[in-house]
Amino acid sequence: MSTLIKNGRIVTAADDFVADVLIEDGRIAAIGHNLAAGNGLETHDAGGLLVLPGGIDVHTHLDSESATSHTVDTFASGGRAAAFGGTTTVVDFCNQIRGGSLLAGFEAWRRRAECTPIDVGAHMIVVDFGPSTAAEMERLMTGEGVTSFKLFTAYPGALMVDDGTLLQAMRAAGRHGGQISVHCENGHIIQMLVGEAVAAGNLAPRHHMLTRPPLAEGEATQRVIALAEVTGTPLYIVHLSARQSLEAVAEARRRGLAVHAETCTHYLFLTDAEYDRPGFEGAKVIMSPPLRAAEHVEALWRGIAAGDLSVVSTDHCPYTFAAEPYGAKHSKRAGGEAFHKVPNGAPGIEERLHVLYSGGVATGRLSASRFVELTATAPAKLFGLYPKKGTIAVGSDADLVLLDPEARWTIRAADGHGRMDYSLFEGFEATGRIKKVFLRGEMIVEGDTWLGREGGGQFIARGPSGSL
Ligand code: URP
Ligand code: ZN
Ligand code: ZN
Repeated sequence: MSTLIKNGRIVTAADDFVADVLIEDGRIAAIGHNLAAGNGLETHDAGGLLVLPGGIDVHTHLDSESATSHTVDTFASGGRAAAFGGTTTVVDFCNQIRGGSLLAGFEAWRRRAECTPIDVGAHMIVVDFGPSTAAEMERLMTGEGVTSFKLFTAYPGALMVDDGTLLQAMRAAGRHGGQISVHCENGHIIQMLVGEAVAAGNLAPRHHMLTRPPLAEGEATQRVIALAEVTGTPLYIVHLSARQSLEAVAEARRRGLAVHAETCTHYLFLTDAEYDRPGFEGAKVIMSPPLRAAEHVEALWRGIAAGDLSVVSTDHCPYTFAAEPYGAKHSKRAGGEAFHKVPNGAPGIEERLHVLYSGGVATGRLSASRFVELTATAPAKLFGLYPKKGTIAVGSDADLVLLDPEARWTIRAADGHGRMDYSLFEGFEATGRIKKVFLRGEMIVEGDTWLGREGGGQFIARGPSGSL
C-alpha cells in the first residue's frame, strides 16, 4: 500500500521545506518534489499544511492502578485521545509492586497495553532494590527493549527510595545502555509540611501546592544529579517545574554531565493561581510537582530557549473530576476531599501539541523546528526510538501529522476523545489544528473521524537511552 502526501511544509528538528512524502509499507520511501502519483496510490493534498513527525509523549500513566486509585484512561481511550492530539507513540510507565518482580510488572503492563491503537514503549518504575533487581533490569534492557527506569525521592512509605537504592539502580542501568529518570521532590520535607497542614485543619486543594515548595524539588534535583555524577549514568529529570531544579540541571549540563530534563505542558501555561478555584475545583490541578508561581513559568521558558529543557511531555495521569460514570477509584474523589487524599495527576495527552504549537509557535516563542524537537525528536533520541520515530526521513516509520497553522478553535473537554471530564486547558483559544494523523502510513485520524483500531498499535522495543 502506497500513500503520497503532496506539497506539505515538512518540518523536522533540522529542516523546514515544502515537498512531497511517499509512504510505502508503513515507512517513508521518498521525500522530494513532484513525486509521481502512480496507480493505486492514495494521495493527500497537504498544500498550506505543516507535515510534522508524529508526537512522542514519554510520560504517561495509562490504566495505572495503585492501592487507592486507578487512572481512568485505558490504552484504548488514552491512545485515541493521544492520536487526535497528534501523538502517535507514548512511552508509558509500568510498576513494580514493592518486593515484587520487575518482569511481572512489565508482563502485566503488556497485557493491559494490548488494546493500544498507537505505538507504545515502556519505562519501568523501581520502588525497591532486592537481590534479583539488577538481573531483572539487565533482562529488561537487553531482552525487552525497556531501557529507562523511574525512581522517586517523594512519597515516603509508598514510592520513595533512599540514595542507596538510587545509586544501585544507576549502576545497574549504566551497565547496559539504560537511563535513570527521577521524580525529584524531597519526600521528608513534604511529609512534614503536609502533617502540619493537616493538623491545622488546612485541607483545601491549595495546601497541596503550599506543602510541596520549589525548594523541595530543587534539593532533590541537586542531590540526584550528584548521585548520577558519581555513577556516570545518564539522568533524566521528569516533570521539572521549579527554577531551582532548572538551575541545578543547567549547572550540571554546563559541566558536561549526561543530564537531561523534561517539563510538561501545564507547567509552561498555568500558574499556582489555579489552586484558588472555588471549593473542590482546585483538585483538578492536584498533580506533583504542583503548578508554580509565574517566576517559575518564565524560568522554564528560558530553560527551553537555552536548551536546558530537552522535552515537553504531559505526565498524563488522568482522574475524572466526577466519580461517575467510571467509579470513584478512577476519580479525584478516590480518597475523599482532603488535599492529601486526592490522587495526584492531571490529563493532557490530547492537548499537548495543540497548546504548545499555539502558545509556542503561533506566538513566536518557538520555531516550528524547535517545537518538533521538543515534542518528537528529542524524546525519540533520549529514549532509544530514533530514527525509527521522531523525524521525517527515508526509512523512518510514516508517523505523520498534518496541521493547519491558520485554523482557530477552542479547546473543550467535552470535545475530547478520551475518558476525561475536564481539561486543564478548558477555553484555551488555539491557533493551529491537526487535520490528519498517520501511524506507520495508516490514516488513524481525519478531522473529527476516528479511523484507528484498538490493538492497531505496536509495542516498540527501544534501543539504548540517555543521549541526544
Ligand atoms: O502527580 C503526578 N505527577 N502523578 C503521576 C505520577 C508521577 O509522579 O509522575
Ligand atoms: Zn513523578
Ligand atoms: Zn508521571
